[in-house]
Amino acid sequence: MKEYEIAVIGGDGIGPEVTREAMKVLDAAAEVYGFKTRRTEYPFGTEHYLKTKEIFPEQAFSEVRGHDAIYLGAIGDPRAPVGMIEFGIIAKLRFELDLYVNLRPIRLYDERLCPLKGKTPADIDMVICRENTEGAYSGSYGYTHKGLENEVATQVMVHTRPAVERIIRYAFELARTRNKKKTVTMIDKANALRSQDIWTRVFADVAKDYPDIKTEHAYIDAACMWMVKNPEWFDVAVCENLFGDIITDLGAMIQGGMGIAASGNIHPGKVSLFEPIHGSAPKYAGKNVACPVAAILAAGMMLDYLGEKQAGARIEDIVVDLVRTRRITGVNTGDHPTDFLGNLVAGELRKVPARVG
Ligand code: IPM
Ligand code: MG
Repeated sequence: MKEYEIAVIGGDGIGPEVTREAMKVLDAAAEVYGFKTRRTEYPFGTEHYLKTKEIFPEQAFSEVRGHDAIYLGAIGDPRAPVGMIEFGIIAKLRFELDLYVNLRPIRLYDERLCPLKGKTPADIDMVICRENTEGAYSGSYGYTHKGLENEVATQVMVHTRPAVERIIRYAFELARTRNKKKTVTMIDKANALRSQDIWTRVFADVAKDYPDIKTEHAYIDAACMWMVKNPEWFDVAVCENLFGDIITDLGAMIQGGMGIAASGNIHPGKVSLFEPIHGSAPKYAGKNVACPVAAILAAGMMLDYLGEKQAGARIEDIVVDLVRTRRITGVNTGDHPTDFLGNLVAGELRKVPARVG
């Protein structure tokens, strides 16, 4: 029987609660599809930092990277300095494990979850491939005359050709595997941020290797507009880190909200990290009101990545079915108790007869 070693970081706020539900679903999937998971839980997050002053010790980090996959609930808490724990945990994992693909599917499961008038599941089914290792996140920033009247603050957007090329290539490969519009849209802002024409140029070069895939281009501002006006135009889209951060929150809203949007931070073939895209929502922590659907779908993406494709697809199918049949009436905070949703999905999963052999 296959066994997967998974490092689990519940993190801050609602992170541990939604993670618990996702792990229930993982256990049900393991039973039904005939594999095992061996999980190591790590306590890192703001609470742990406040108690111990430890963010993510190197020893633990090297242990974590030795797993088959990493699962993360959520990070962020106003009691720690802004960005400190986020960068010490999420960004550290993304950068040091070189998880260059931030894969963010945006799929509408049922019309009633969509705030856009007249859009149906047929219109909203896309994947954003967000570059996940550089851009404005690369850490190249600083201040001159800090605190003085003439203070200067800079944050450099770094785009290296290898990083640009590999994420673009990933997007083209992904478009091939999806039975959709076979289109990749390059989203950049090369008209105003001139250095970003590296994206436009590399995109054109890589496209030559994929004559079967159609290409489109949109500047980020226009892309935001199209996402709202004509989301059906998108299949696979690729963009730099910060634009991807922003447009995927918009994407989450058109698929029903932060409660349903999942993501993978991936380096193909290497240990990768899966997480809901929502934050830690500290004010809802411990109240059993957070929606764990995004966290559950992230566990499904993790299984897909680990090679348990049937189990991964089944988790998504179950959520789609539960939403469409209104057993899940909503995916916002408070629509259902957190544990109710985990139990519901795990229970549906167990209704499938166990795999023979
Ligand atoms: C995300 C988050 C992170 C990011 C934060 C928590 C650093 O917003 O995963 O989208 O900006 O990448
Ligand atoms: Mg974000």
